[in-house]
Amino acid sequence: MVIYFQYMAKGRVKSKPSPKASRRVATSGDIEVSTYLEIAKEIGGVQPAAAKEAIPSGEREAIIVIDFGSQYSLLIARRVRECQVYCELVSADTPWEKIAPLNPKGFILSGGPGSVYEANAPMAPAYIYESRLPILGICYGMQVITHQMGGQVAPGTKREYGHALLNLGGVDSPLFANVPQSTPVWMSHGDKIEAMPPDFNVLAYTDNSPFAAIGNDKNIFGLQFHPEVVHTPEGKTILKNFVYRICGCQGNWTMGNFITDSLTKIQKEVGKGKVISALSGGVDSAVVSTLIHKAIGDQITCIFVNHGMLRREEVERTFNTFRLNMGMNIVYVDASERFLNRMKGVTDPETKRKIIGEEFINVFEEEAKKIGKVDFLAQGTLYPDVIESASSGSTAAAKIKSHHNVGGLPSRMTLKLLEPLRYLFKDEVRQVGLELGLPEEMVWRQPFPGPGLAIRIIGEVTEEKLEILRAADWVVMNEIKKAKLYRQLWQSFAILTDVHSVGVMGDYRTYGYLVAVRAVTSDDAMTADWSRLPYDVLARISNRIVNEVPEVNRVVYDITSKPPSTIEWE
Ligand code: XMP
Repeated sequence: MVIYFQYMAKGRVKSKPSPKASRRVATSGDIEVSTYLEIAKEIGGVQPAAAKEAIPSGEREAIIVIDFGSQYSLLIARRVRECQVYCELVSADTPWEKIAPLNPKGFILSGGPGSVYEANAPMAPAYIYESRLPILGICYGMQVITHQMGGQVAPGTKREYGHALLNLGGVDSPLFANVPQSTPVWMSHGDKIEAMPPDFNVLAYTDNSPFAAIGNDKNIFGLQFHPEVVHTPEGKTILKNFVYRICGCQGNWTMGNFITDSLTKIQKEVGKGKVISALSGGVDSAVVSTLIHKAIGDQITCIFVNHGMLRREEVERTFNTFRLNMGMNIVYVDASERFLNRMKGVTDPETKRKIIGEEFINVFEEEAKKIGKVDFLAQGTLYPDVIESASSGSTAAAKIKSHHNVGGLPSRMTLKLLEPLRYLFKDEVRQVGLELGLPEEMVWRQPFPGPGLAIRIIGEVTEEKLEILRAADWVVMNEIKKAKLYRQLWQSFAILTDVHSVGVMGDYRTYGYLVAVRAVTSDDAMTADWSRLPYDVLARISNRIVNEVPEVNRVVYDITSKPPSTIEWE
């Protein structure tokens, strides 16, 4: 959803992503569907549900990251959760009353763009020191600790950015247990520590940073480098040492526990109520629907709207997985004709999106009405979306509302939102999906845009063009999967351009379509690089497309990164 609204906000004209945008991580694979529903619900006067506790209620424990705005803040939370410890990100002005129920075992202060000596620089709340819990400050977080505890921070003469070699000092610290004496780390800072606070020791240094790691005997630590990024190979060991050896966590954050706990919570929340969800074939809607189905069985009905612009076999695959394998209650609506009729003569990309959005809500509403009284709308909202909404003070849907003119669900359908995944990262959602028995193919599906093939056909969308694109796209997918490249790529697909070119087949000249192939790597879709696919894979794709799709006589490979291009062509 977030990826989508940033896309809309940018309007494809202004290419500069906002600073916030750069910290996005991959979220929904079925972005658009959930956004439509959320907008529709808000128009109906319903606001998203307040945050609910996510952590297993038994032995509750959590690490709290105070977010000072680093692009890596969410990554810190992910790394901690990879250690099987629940972790939440909060802003520095979050009151203790909100944190206490999570039973914090320690705090991490993130990096950030600020300078501690500037007026209004964000500082850590007093309760983190008063709590006497362990604290780990990373980069700016370390400078905050230094500043607040009586040390000195000054602007560095030169910015240190990139690899550095960390050498452990003479002091034996549990933070560096099992870390080699000398190890590469990733630095990214301008300011530096000039004097440590009283009673702190140097735990490690680099050529440029005499205070690369510091600590005192009250379990307060500072790291000038970033342990959360992959360029710090021992970073995970350091974070693990912090949460287990220093904070004494038990490690009860597993997806198995999450599922068990969620089932009870969903049952309690829904009671005898009825739930609807929108299935799209994407990972999030699939996992959310399956989890809820496991909790309350046939009290959930999934509405699957086929807008006619899906990939080949997508409809069958989704339907079979849910109805036949999982035995779920599915209302399948083939609305392709209706959507296609509205797309007649439309060539503008944004108008295509708008029409599909509007029509989606219309169909969904009609089908929901037929079900009778419904109490909840299930949504695949993920943690990065929650964080984004919280930090910007508005919901994702509110942000894109101005770009969409879609009708709302009728206000008499006073639906409450059911969002059991709102505290999970994408990789955790995949894990939950696998544990719930969803096929790997669905769990690892590449993101697919809500408007589907409509934005991969340049110009007017017709049934004939959809068939040509489906055939070409099928070959791309097939060859990418055969070459075992599918999971490494963020997205890989074909585009049907509106260019015709001359070719020759046998003794005849042809005048056929030009198909483009796009394959990109990316972490969050905000930036992307074109994939250096092996030549023989490209050759097979090209040969097969021109042989198997008679309307196409030329294939090109898109070798532009994002920016300046976008991933989709429209
Ligand atoms: P771009 O083309 O802006 O795409 O680089 C970034 C990511 O967003 C997806 N995308 C969309 N998803 N509705 C969606 O649900 C849309 O209108 C839309 N446009 C782009 C795109 O597939 C990529 O993952």
